[in-house]
Amino acid sequence: MEKIKVAVVGTGNICKTAHMPVYMKRDDVEVIACADIDFPKAKAFAEKFNIPQVYSSVEELLANCKPDYVDVCTWPAAHAPVSIAAANAGCHVMCEKPVCHNLEDALALKEAVERNGVKFMLAVPLRYEKSAVHARKLVDEGVLGDVYYGKTAYVRQRGIPGGWFSCSKYAGGGPIIDIGVHRIDLAWYMMGCPKPVSVSATAVYKIGDYRDEPKVDPVTGEVSATNDWSGAEVDDYKFDVEDSASGVFRFENGAQLFFETAWSFNGPVNNSTQIAGDKAGITLEPFKLYRSEGKNLVEEPIEGDFSGNFFANEIDHFIDCVRNDKVPSSNIEQAVQLQMMLMGIYESSKTGKEVRFTY
Ligand SMILES: NC(=O)c1ccc[n+]([C@@H]2O[C@H](COP(=O)([O-])OP(=O)(O)OC[C@H]3O[C@@H](n4cnc5c(N)ncnc54)[C@H](O)[C@@H]3O)[C@@H](O)[C@H]2O)c1
Repeated sequence: MEKIKVAVVGTGNICKTAHMPVYMKRDDVEVIACADIDFPKAKAFAEKFNIPQVYSSVEELLANCKPDYVDVCTWPAAHAPVSIAAANAGCHVMCEKPVCHNLEDALALKEAVERNGVKFMLAVPLRYEKSAVHARKLVDEGVLGDVYYGKTAYVRQRGIPGGWFSCSKYAGGGPIIDIGVHRIDLAWYMMGCPKPVSVSATAVYKIGDYRDEPKVDPVTGEVSATNDWSGAEVDDYKFDVEDSASGVFRFENGAQLFFETAWSFNGPVNNSTQIAGDKAGITLEPFKLYRSEGKNLVEEPIEGDFSGNFFANEIDHFIDCVRNDKVPSSNIEQAVQLQMMLMGIYESSKTGKEVRFTY
């Protein structure tokens, strides 16, 4: 079997700790090149993973080699330019979440993907977790009936990631776009990806950068309140993003999805997702079915082997799509709708009104 040739652009944390370990384990994939605007970082990355070609830009990379797909792992503001360059060179694209840092770039990317006839997949790993795929199967089989409700949360008490993540110029926003995106996509996927029609939401800017007064452990010197996911440092860094957000999306089929997300919140941690239809409902944590039986509601665990690494599942799915000419689950159409939902949260919060999506 011919190997799928991959080039990775953005040689930071996610690529190093989540994507490369998956590629290294597969003998049907070859990472032929990497690029990062921080060239010494890209060089060290290439040495670590034995990648033959290393560049300081996607343009240089594409001028010198032709991968089957480009795996885009830069900060969000570079997702569109890098992905568009790859699509224009005739390469398929797998791009880290969020698809872009604004809606305009997401639409430009959609145009480039469609014009070039390449495949695009947004890397939203939670929907590739086996439990989520099984939940969606139950929805598609009609076990839940008409799914009219979703509720999802990704709430940290103190969890601002370091580096560019909290600077809107690079990230596009804070927890909404960094972690809210994961759970919103997950719940939306489980609900069957109904067409979004509106959002009413509030983004909160009250706690701000609590790290201004970091609590340093006197023994280890570690800053106790900093999250593990730290991005690259940027020269013009400015903390200008929200602490938290909550709201509700409405869909064309009448369903609604409530969400909450936070990097800083004075309350409990909350990582949970549930959906409900008129015949049954599902919670992911714990993975349970709430089924209507006559007058009663029966609660039962959903059994099965749902283990496995969701990054591996995600990459597996994209490679299958590339090799066998299939449409990815989180394709460009869905990536744009998801971006519309995320950007709608900010717009609704700013105007204090429900935002209706236009197509
Ligand atoms: N799926 C997940 O669970 C998950 C977790 C963390 C991060 N992410 C996403 O992955 C992406 C990268 O995050 P990270 O934590 O690896 O950040 P990082 O800062 O560690 O790495 C990003 C790299 O991109 C490089 N870069 C920026 N612009 C570039 C360009 N135009 N061309 C080439 N390289 C460029 C930077 O120099 C940096 O090395 C983000 O979109 C983030 O939201 C996803």
